[in-house]
Amino acid sequence: MKEKLEAVEAVLKKYDQEQLLANYEKLSEEQKERLLDEILTIDFNQISKLYANRNMKQVYSESEIKPIPYVEKDKMSKEEKEKYDELGIKTIKAGKLAVVTMAGGQGTRLGHNGPKGTFDIGLESHKSIFEILCDTLKSANEKYGVVIPWYIMTSKENNKDTVNFFEKNKYFGYPKGYIQFFKQGELPMVGEDGKVLLDEEGMIKLAADGHGGVFSSMLKDGIIYDMKARGIEWVFIGAVDNVLVKMVDPTLIGLAESKGVLAAGKSVVKAGPHEKVGVYCKRNGKPSVIEYSEISKEMVEEKDENGQLKYGESQTNCNLFNMQAIERVSEKHLPYHSAHKKATYMNAKGEIIKGTEPNAYKFEAFFFDAFDSLDDMAIMRVKREEEFAPVKNAEGVDSPETARKLYQDFWKTK
Ligand code: UTP
Repeated sequence: MKEKLEAVEAVLKKYDQEQLLANYEKLSEEQKERLLDEILTIDFNQISKLYANRNMKQVYSESEIKPIPYVEKDKMSKEEKEKYDELGIKTIKAGKLAVVTMAGGQGTRLGHNGPKGTFDIGLESHKSIFEILCDTLKSANEKYGVVIPWYIMTSKENNKDTVNFFEKNKYFGYPKGYIQFFKQGELPMVGEDGKVLLDEEGMIKLAADGHGGVFSSMLKDGIIYDMKARGIEWVFIGAVDNVLVKMVDPTLIGLAESKGVLAAGKSVVKAGPHEKVGVYCKRNGKPSVIEYSEISKEMVEEKDENGQLKYGESQTNCNLFNMQAIERVSEKHLPYHSAHKKATYMNAKGEIIKGTEPNAYKFEAFFFDAFDSLDDMAIMRVKREEEFAPVKNAEGVDSPETARKLYQDFWKTK
């Protein structure tokens, strides 16, 4: 232990991170050992680079960014729709579709004490978000005479609570052998001054490293292997926080198959030029998602010949990937972006600091950065009121209240 401590002290000195041992003497022997091990796994070079680039914003020019072609589900001809549906239904009935739900996020804006999927949006039934999602899978299973494998991505922070919740609720009646959990990666959080933070227990303050970790975590945890063994060809990857998410959509599958592309995404019309959402586009000829802050104000407001926003296909975290695409992307490292977040941590004096305003940085990879590994993808515009009811904030826009209303209006329920 003494040697390990000396090795850690040398590393911390080199990277000017000695605060990590400021509370060391107050820890139990077991905690001391754990902290030293945690420190030794940190790539401080990577962390200092990410911190140094935390405010770097890329702005793309018109020569790099182009609008992406899309088809509008509602405007498909009857023949076209039937053709896609037939193809998609065949794939689903053959047991070639799996679903992944990304549920590793911290849900800081919602502020619910527990994984977001366990949140009750206030329906009369008091169903949790996980149960709402499970319901849609169960009815798809009934409709197509299959059992769709459901993979749920958690993080170290919320894995135990998520698994316990499913256990307690008897997997909502879903066949247990068809639900699997896998954990995404984590990175240390840093304070305003670039110093790695300690959590309330005095260990390294880790945070989930973004939904972009989904592909590599699927590889690492054997999910890709499991999917292949089950004969899966298409995987719908969606977020836990959309209570209208349509995970089993034959039209989307059929569209991707008939276009011969390895991925497809669902968009909704951007609510207005300045809505703060990412939109699908082509970047240097490859499919991509750009944030409103990554293009000029003129581009954000630009309209096409039909008077619609040129960059108006908001991405909804609803995407379909062919297994080939998943395998290709799972080998890659997606770039990290920084996010300024509220964090609770232990300072060098051993005091617990609770952030009421953003006071720390976390680093996240985004799954849509995977798109530029693909030559093309199909985009299908769907109706917001039918498929997009996000639960992001505690109040106001994209809150339990707005999601509940959208859910109730769609399902004509309370
Ligand atoms: P958000 O980016 O909205 O983050 O995630 P969040 O964690 O839910 O909420 P805030 O930003 O802390 O308030 C969109 C989806 O991606 C998942 C989330 O669980 C959600 O389904 N996600 C996000 C992950 O699975 N892992 C992550 O590291 C981040």
